[in-house]
Amino acid sequence: MLKTHGCGELRAEHAGERVTLAGWVHRRRDHGGLLFLDLRDSTGIVQVVFRPQDSPQAAAIAEGVRSEFVVQVKGEVALRRQGTENADMPTGAIEVVAGEATILNASETPPFSIAEETNTGEVMRLRYRYLDLRRERMAKNLRLRHRVVKFIRDFMDERGFLEVETPTLNLATPEGARDYLVPSRVHPGAFYALPQSPQQWKQLLMVAGVDKYFQIARCYRDEDLRGDRQPEFTQLDVEMAFVEEEDILNLIEELYVQMSEAVAPHFALPSPFPRLTYAEAMERFGSDKPDMRYGLELHDFTSNVRDTEFQVFTRVIEDGGRIRGFVVPGGADIPRRGIDALTEVARDAGASGLVWAQFSGEGPLDGLTADDVRSPVQRFFTPDQLGALAAAAGGSRGDALLLAAGPDALTSKVLDVLRRKVAEDRNLADPDRLAFLFVTQFPMFEWDTDGERWSAVHHLFTAPYEEDLPLLATDPGAMRSHAYDIVCNGQEIASGSIRIHSRDTQMAVFRTLGIGLEEARLKFGHMLDAFTYGAPPHGGIAPGIDRTVALFAGERDIREVIAFPKTKSASDPMTGAPAAVAPQQLSDVHITLDEEARLALEEAAAGDPVGDEDDA
Ligand code: AMO
Repeated sequence: MLKTHGCGELRAEHAGERVTLAGWVHRRRDHGGLLFLDLRDSTGIVQVVFRPQDSPQAAAIAEGVRSEFVVQVKGEVALRRQGTENADMPTGAIEVVAGEATILNASETPPFSIAEETNTGEVMRLRYRYLDLRRERMAKNLRLRHRVVKFIRDFMDERGFLEVETPTLNLATPEGARDYLVPSRVHPGAFYALPQSPQQWKQLLMVAGVDKYFQIARCYRDEDLRGDRQPEFTQLDVEMAFVEEEDILNLIEELYVQMSEAVAPHFALPSPFPRLTYAEAMERFGSDKPDMRYGLELHDFTSNVRDTEFQVFTRVIEDGGRIRGFVVPGGADIPRRGIDALTEVARDAGASGLVWAQFSGEGPLDGLTADDVRSPVQRFFTPDQLGALAAAAGGSRGDALLLAAGPDALTSKVLDVLRRKVAEDRNLADPDRLAFLFVTQFPMFEWDTDGERWSAVHHLFTAPYEEDLPLLATDPGAMRSHAYDIVCNGQEIASGSIRIHSRDTQMAVFRTLGIGLEEARLKFGHMLDAFTYGAPPHGGIAPGIDRTVALFAGERDIREVIAFPKTKSASDPMTGAPAAVAPQQLSDVHITLDEEARLALEEAAAGDPVGDEDDA
């Protein structure tokens, strides 16, 4: 080794020892005659002092280095003089007095500072990811990710789970998102698809007699990207035979509680996780992934406003819709432009407008005068009528009331975004809390208005409630399924379900989804066949590793916990992927480019090959 110790390992008890260190120049300070280098490696940072009078050779080297040069230093650990210790640094009690120094490699001036957390654009950070990862925050995130994955492997192993690798060159099947396709050279015109998840493989492993399977699995989906979505991401994929929903929920809850204790104990997850059915979650929060760190619970005002003069409401009610909304505690202080911003958010979510009221003063909402209320609907409601609405939802003077009218699907969507916006504006979500919960009893099917057909809410292998099976023929939309999610802080962290293990039920579900016998045989023949050879009852779940690590790391964007992520347009500014390939490579796999592709490639070749300015 070129070093005897890690920079960050040295403590007071090493005083007097001769050590050899090697690392990067983090900072360099010249104190007129005395030179200090902060030397950094993966273990941390230590201060090295160079005294020209004691070792002129080392001092001359220190004189010539700049940030991010790689140097080796031999010297002696010494306690810092009293008053010069640095309590903020783990190595702050000591410094290394340099005797000899060698430059192992020089460095260009980095495009952004490693030592300072400057605001650097995403594209720049990704183009020089190897420099970005040198920053403490990123190095810490990589270490945390390692701890999470190691914890998971140990936990699953102790409980008798077998990690099995499954193929990534697969048959394309209609499973939700768009596939990444891989053309075949030896089968002209044929394509593999990269797995959106190992869903079918893990079910086949159950038929194969593996009772307890898991895999740290890479998944690929060609979908619109956001802060919590990457084109390739990692799941803890789990499947078990001979289990019921409870068994899986309990296992995963235990995993998360223990994992949090091990890797991020400051969060202290409360257990058991609260549980909401899908119907409850939608009714109380308008979302199947509610952020439970704050209240702002929805209330149904339909019966309170049914007999009023306000036709915007009464018409909606006649059409079978409802008036729902929530109270914003202290919301009387929201300025007019804040209300306008909320109205805009509601409109963007599909509402025709936002009905609101603000109540000044303090105390109970009675004896209100026109001066106590601000609202665009004051012509239609007396002050006391408006006060009574807010009071019905637990409000008082000093609060605001926000209302949306329409079919449930619309009001849920609108009120969900409003809840999130209000919580963000008013800092209601404690960043130091992880509010985990389970959402259960998802509907089996939802009506896809674009395709004019039923589609699976979770996926097409999910088992319906046994007692709801007769609805398959009459009212598929009312069927409940054994699908469940783990939700935390307004984000879906995991999804899973008990699966169908009977061929007949699977075929019936395919039929409802508009998949006929022919298509079923073609795309899912292997699954249907397997189900005829004694498939055990089984079920599973798949937590997203990237989202889990981001939660524990306190990061909002999963790119912060992925070593080499893609930009929001799924490209890699460092390597330039995706990129054109040689014509020979294309013809090997029997692919000809169309006009649009040729033009796009020409344009890219002429300009910036990365073309990701939007992400900056
Ligand atoms: P699902 O599609 O809900 O279920 O995915 C499970 C979990 O994977 C994570 N995830 C993602 N993370 C980052 N980027 C993405 N693009 C992305 N897409 C999904 C989320 C999500 O909760 N086979 C089923 C699971 C099962 O039924 O067992 C499945 O993949 O955390």
